[in-house]
Amino acid sequence: MKEATAATKTAKDSKSSPKQNLEVDQAQVTVGNRFCENPKMSMRDVNVFYGDKQAIYDVSVDIAKNEVIAMIGPSGCGKSTFLRSLNRMNDTVDGCKVEGEVLLDGDNIYHKNLDVVELRARVGMVFQKPNPFPKSIFENIAYGPKIHGLADSRVDLDEIVEGSLKKAGLWEEVKERLHQPGTGLSGGQQQRLCIARAIAVSPEVILMDEPCSALDPIATARIEELIEELSQNFTIAIVTHSMQQAARVSNRTAYFHLGKLIEVNPTEQVFTMPEHQLTEAYITGRFG
Ligand SMILES: Nc1ncnc2c1ncn2[C@@H]1O[C@H](COP(=O)(O)OP(=O)(O)OP(=O)(O)O)[C@@H](O)[C@H]1O
Ligand SMILES: [Mg+2]
Repeated sequence: MKEATAATKTAKDSKSSPKQNLEVDQAQVTVGNRFCENPKMSMRDVNVFYGDKQAIYDVSVDIAKNEVIAMIGPSGCGKSTFLRSLNRMNDTVDGCKVEGEVLLDGDNIYHKNLDVVELRARVGMVFQKPNPFPKSIFENIAYGPKIHGLADSRVDLDEIVEGSLKKAGLWEEVKERLHQPGTGLSGGQQQRLCIARAIAVSPEVILMDEPCSALDPIATARIEELIEELSQNFTIAIVTHSMQQAARVSNRTAYFHLGKLIEVNPTEQVFTMPEHQLTEAYITGRFG
């Protein structure tokens, strides 16, 4: 049903668009395998605007439970904008407006009665640049569980902190210095601290926007291993500029171009037999 609507729209739009926009016209229907049964998140006809400028056009896609979906595409194509629309982080950007449906377990996260703080605990985010709070390692992790009332006692809190640091693969490196500042850690350790902080509030989905771009290859490999481990318990959407990284960590890959979702397919297929010529052009290095 959705496909038919999108196809009709493309046919109509292409009549009114000038010929030189052929590439963009062709890009209007997402090809591949973008829907799934019992999705964890479901996006339908998502449009995002900064003031008058549209950054995301009619994106519809599902994210399956416990899948790792990679989002790739040239700089400025809207990956971060789309990712931020999945936990209403765009609400914090002046003039940014999101239209369409973003469902988490079937409920629209843009519903006016929804508690955004609670939403962001369920759909956590890890940013490009590690951003620990200017507090101790312990407090970085304990803060979220405290404000969400997840710990009844100090013992509970200690357990959450230890468990989160273990899941993020950081415990052994920091267990003797929990009360020292988080900002005193190396970049790779800080990023794992931020992942531990996201995990501490028991999220269901973790959004990662180029989480390794500020890290060296060893720290990157550590985070990639971690993503694989985390995917057993969490659903992960990761934006990356590294096609190798997308290939290593994700089950499906979504290719964006000029604000449109061009293709979603199993990762192996995207990198070996892409369905859309724009995806092919990108992965073979013709642009981006
Ligand atoms: N806060 C903002 N205000 C106005 N326009 C913005 C803002 N953030 C992003 N944009 C615009 O929206 C479009 C998509 O940007 P976005 O940052 O989502 O792209 P991206 O794919 O994440 O790029 P990159 O790979 O460089 O991180 C771009 O044209 C960008 O200039
Ligand atoms: Mg970005």
